[in-house]
Amino acid sequence: MKTVLITGTSSGYGLETARYFHAQGWKVIATMRRPQPDLLPQSERLTVLPLDVTDPDSIETCLAAAGPIDVLVNNAGIGMVGAFEASPMAQVRRLFETNTLAVMAMTQAVLPLMRQQRGGVIVNVTSSVVLAPSPFAAAYTATKTAIEGFSRALARELVAFDIGIKLVEPGYAPTTRFGANTELPIEDLIPPAYADFARPIFEAFATPSVTTREIDVAEAVWRAANDTSGQQRFPAGPDAVALWEASR
Ligand SMILES: NC(=O)c1ccc[n+]([C@@H]2O[C@H](COP(=O)([O-])OP(=O)(O)OC[C@H]3O[C@@H](n4cnc5c(N)ncnc54)[C@H](OP(=O)(O)O)[C@@H]3O)[C@@H](O)[C@H]2O)c1
Repeated sequence: MKTVLITGTSSGYGLETARYFHAQGWKVIATMRRPQPDLLPQSERLTVLPLDVTDPDSIETCLAAAGPIDVLVNNAGIGMVGAFEASPMAQVRRLFETNTLAVMAMTQAVLPLMRQQRGGVIVNVTSSVVLAPSPFAAAYTATKTAIEGFSRALARELVAFDIGIKLVEPGYAPTTRFGANTELPIEDLIPPAYADFARPIFEAFATPSVTTREIDVAEAVWRAANDTSGQQRFPAGPDAVALWEASR
């Protein structure tokens, strides 16, 4: 039986991915900053462990409790929407801590184990913002684009050990907690000089013609984790797939 460890499973894409892998018969280690086991099925194949991906001690304790894992899914992430000019650098650093450096720290922490077992897959959840530049998302896009470059280069380094690095690029889902979890309100990050330019962009953003569902991402993570074709990037959701097709 294979084991997957997923970060950020208290809501959204991560929660659905944990449910999906469990339903496929895998052993699932669902990690959350504040564990809520009731969110997931009661099962001896499902363990909920505390994990704050920005805290090195938390990573070490979590992985020691988890034991051997076949697949790591780096899903935990936070967003920020607004004019870059008005985005506090302290918050930009927080974005990079969670979306970029924590992904690198988790990866570094599981590599000795995967190297010794001569196999494993790391799935990094980025975003469709890497497929098409979007205004008012510059810092967030930077955090995810960094992980795309990191993953593509690292994959070349780990070929010798049969460790795969995959990228899942989800589109926009209004149904996850992503918007609610965004720490700074958009209104605070749109200075008056940007207001007229920003208004139609945010109006269009509020009524998207096509969006991504949690299950689209869970299925893409599943395909990425089980891929044997060498494909590295997996756009997830119809909006992301459309951007992917347009960018090719
Ligand atoms: N929703 C979208 O439109 C969208 C689009 C493209 C990509 N994504 C990406 O998809 C991933 C999942 O997002 P989502 O939409 O499912 O949002 P979500 O519902 O807000 O889920 C994000 C998860 O990350 C966790 N998290 C945040 N900071 C953490 C930390 N320091 N340590 C551990 N866990 C942490 C949150 O846990 P808490 O409950 O503890 O806050 C939550 O479980 C993110 O990487 C996001 O960037 C989202």
